[in-house]
Amino acid sequence: MKKIMFTCMISGIVSGFSPVVMSAAPVDGAAVFARNCSVCHSINPPPKSAPPVIPLANRYHEKFATREQGVAHMVAFLKKPDKAGAVDAQAVTRFGLMPPLSLADAELKAVSGWFWDQYNPAMGRGRGMGRGQGQYMNR
Ligand code: HEC
Repeated sequence: MKKIMFTCMISGIVSGFSPVVMSAAPVDGAAVFARNCSVCHSINPPPKSAPPVIPLANRYHEKFATREQGVAHMVAFLKKPDKAGAVDAQAVTRFGLMPPLSLADAELKAVSGWFWDQYNPAMGRGRGMGRGQGQYMNR
């Protein structure tokens, strides 16, 4: 069983997405997102009741040099959202502060890693998907 799980994890990492067999793996960030975040966060604009994932991921990549730093900040934010710690303080003004979520650390780490990976290099570093959406324009 251990061996099977390991193989699933590796195939998930190599292929960059989560096949159905991944449900046997410990924590799947995309599944955590679907269950706990997608009710408020869309992936792309237009927003639901929170900023969409890709522009937010772009902001995280703009602000943090490494995945470790970005994920650490996001995990801390998800445990205890506060405006001063928000990467996008304007979003707090627009949408209201995000409620804290009671998820296990492993789930928070997995979903934050998944979130970080949604950054789309084709959009250009930090430029986001802001066309026509002033609040996501950085400069
Ligand atoms: C009840 C609605 C709601 C749910 C559920 C929710 N969020 Fe949010 N989230 C928000 C709102 C509103 C904001 C914007 C205001 C803010 O930053 O607090 C936000 C902001 C964020 C930010 C930006 C933080 C920053 O540094 O500026 C991240 C990252 C994030 N959410 C991730 C998640 C993840 C991951 C989940 C699921 C585990 C999730 N959210 C679930 C409403 C929600």
